Amino acid sequence: MIKKTLLTALVAFGLGLGGTAAYAEGGEAHVKDYDFSYEGPFGKFDQEQLRRGLKVYTEVCAACHGLRLVAFRTLGDEGGPQYSADEVKAYAAEFEVFDPELDDTRAAKPSDKFPKSGLETAPDLSLMAKARAGFHGPYGLGINQMLKGMGGPEYIASILAGYTGEEKEQAGVTFYENTAFPGGWIAMPPPLEDELVEFDDGYDNNVESMSQDVAAFLMWTAEPKMMARKRMGFLVVLFLSLFTVLLYLTNKKLWAPIKRKEA
Ligand code: HEC
Repeated sequence: MIKKTLLTALVAFGLGLGGTAAYAEGGEAHVKDYDFSYEGPFGKFDQEQLRRGLKVYTEVCAACHGLRLVAFRTLGDEGGPQYSADEVKAYAAEFEVFDPELDDTRAAKPSDKFPKSGLETAPDLSLMAKARAGFHGPYGLGINQMLKGMGGPEYIASILAGYTGEEKEQAGVTFYENTAFPGGWIAMPPPLEDELVEFDDGYDNNVESMSQDVAAFLMWTAEPKMMARKRMGFLVVLFLSLFTVLLYLTNKKLWAPIKRKEA
């Protein structure tokens, strides 16, 4: 009896292993379930992380990717990187925008938006964290998304940290092997390397850490009002719970005389 159970367990384990191996070999994207500070019903953006992410974006990603839906002034908003008005002004001034009134370019002002992608083939990143899903299945049921979230930022971080170092050329375009990108080959050259960006507070600047920082920052650009939404959601649930109790008591009171007669 015990032998049989053991055997079944072993076979199940073997099948499981075989299953995972087949998964990896099939070029299925692997997205790591990173822990972000804003997850859960009371999660909050980590201001320091958003500032580091902005720095990574500015020094690395901005060379190719735009954030054309994000206005510079939002960098001063509560719950975001929350820079002072002067800091936002100085930051914006580092960018050039085209002014149709002047018919010329000028330094950007806080009311302007970030420029669009400088490289045509690089997608705009404003909403990228919500445009991609990192988790799927099992069997198309979407249960993973219910348990772990949609996984947009996890997908972005996994791509940035998912290069294997292999490359190939196809029709004149160089592709880089990436364990998180569907299909396994992406046209974006590995943008990060260890110690590429220096943080003022000496925070970890290895590839994996910077990937999470910039992914968190892109979650903020995609949903800057997430904190307000969660707070409102909590209040609504609280209100509905109280309301349920009140309705129950009202219902009881209204029916009391009738029920008494029946008894
Ligand atoms: C040298 C230019 C360049 C730089 C620098 C760069 N990218 Fe890209 N990126 C690209 C290109 C080109 C693509 C399109 C790749 C494709 O579709 O195969 C891309 C695609 C992406 C995608 C989309 C993947 C998808 O699912 O379609 C994300 C996310 C991304 N980049 C994030 C970043 C981040 C974050 C940084 C900064 C750390 C960055 N990129 C730096 C050129 C660049």
